[in-house]
Amino acid sequence: MEEQKAPQILFVDDEPSLESLIRRQFRRKLRKNEYEFFFAQNGVEALKQIEEEPDIQVVITDINMPEMNGLTLLDKIHDLGHVIKTVVLSAYGDMKNIRTAMNRGAFDFLNKPIDFEDLEITMNRALEQVQQQRNSQYQLQQAQTQLIQSEKMSALGQLIAGVAHEMNNPVGFIAGNVAIAEDYISELIEVIELYRDKFKDPGEEISAKLHEVDFESLVADVPELVASMKEGTDRIYHLSNSLRTFSRADISTKVAFNLHDGLDSTLLILKHRLKANEFRPDIDICKEYSELPAVICYPGQLNQVFMNLLANAIDALDEYSDKRTWDEMLESPNIITISTCELPENKRVQIRISDNGPGIPEKVKTHVFDYLFTTKPPGKGTGLGLSISYQIVVEKHGGRLYCESEGDTGATFIIELPIE
Ligand SMILES: Nc1ncnc2c1ncn2[C@@H]1O[C@H](COP(=O)(O)OP(=O)(O)OP(=O)(O)O)[C@@H](O)[C@H]1O
Ligand SMILES: [Mg+2]
Repeated sequence: MEEQKAPQILFVDDEPSLESLIRRQFRRKLRKNEYEFFFAQNGVEALKQIEEEPDIQVVITDINMPEMNGLTLLDKIHDLGHVIKTVVLSAYGDMKNIRTAMNRGAFDFLNKPIDFEDLEITMNRALEQVQQQRNSQYQLQQAQTQLIQSEKMSALGQLIAGVAHEMNNPVGFIAGNVAIAEDYISELIEVIELYRDKFKDPGEEISAKLHEVDFESLVADVPELVASMKEGTDRIYHLSNSLRTFSRADISTKVAFNLHDGLDSTLLILKHRLKANEFRPDIDICKEYSELPAVICYPGQLNQVFMNLLANAIDALDEYSDKRTWDEMLESPNIITISTCELPENKRVQIRISDNGPGIPEKVKTHVFDYLFTTKPPGKGTGLGLSISYQIVVEKHGGRLYCESEGDTGATFIIELPIE
């Protein structure tokens, strides 16, 4: 997600000359960006630095310092739960403090005065360990998200595919019978009309009945009636096809897929959430589709990305509705815009999903794709939607997923996918 950064190391010592000493000693490596150093003069300052620079991987700390000593700092760093290795600096032979530090989880210790060669070896060993630990933590999280994702998806997909399948049978016999009923009805009408031709005077009772049912308009109505029944069954067919498009479970191979079908079937599934409710009017959907080639992809997974992005946009608009009056919302309606285009120069397609909700503050923006990051109350958001989507777009499809949000004019999420 980010370019290669120099490993960050924090030195904590109340001796102010330590900084220039260390910088001088490592000046070549610092210039070559092999390390980035930070300095603090006591535990309190050190904690502040760690908070500001969460990428600090190794802390090298003195033990005796004003305000907060090195041993307390060790405890506090441990409580933060970050993957950080701490090395303590101690006076030669101060076995008691060294034992305490090691018992509190210090990675290693160094004696003062500092032997720089030893310092560097220890630093590199500590960095290596942190990197290994962070990597395995990352892999574990990836595996876990993937597991949750496939679990969620297969449960939802199976349910939807099942419903679509169950719908198809009854619709099938309605549609089939409508056509037959249409034939039967016209035959019955023909028979009645034949009777009327042959027996000009059917008698009082039949004449009255014909009048009562308004035979002429009844006959005239039949075609419209049948047409609307056909239209209804067509719509249900369409719905069940969309459901099946949405839940396409061809997980194991990539296939050519029309992304517009994916977007439309996802919109259909979210339709109930777009409708007006007691807090806001309908959310408008504005489609700006342009001609797109079929994209080789995992359709089920991309549908899941569309689902996550659209659901987030709806959540944002829902939340924003609390801050706007009904009249304001009628005047400038809640709207989600979906636009697609081909980027022929780099053989990619781009899909932009924008909302005119509250937008994303700069501070939140840097975290939206993080695992388990959410600003929604418990029970509402798990903070997985965007990190799963990121994984699908970037890792599974070699694409890009990023967001743009300036001020409070809403948010735009942009997906770019290679066509092949
Ligand atoms: N369109 C948007 N407008 C404003 N904020 C957004 C938008 N999309 C995402 N966010 C922010 O990004 C955060 C992370 O989104 P993400 O989809 O990963 O998790 P979530 O929606 O909170 O939970 P869930 O796992 O149920 O999707 C959201 O909590 C929200 O703060
Ligand atoms: Mg979400």
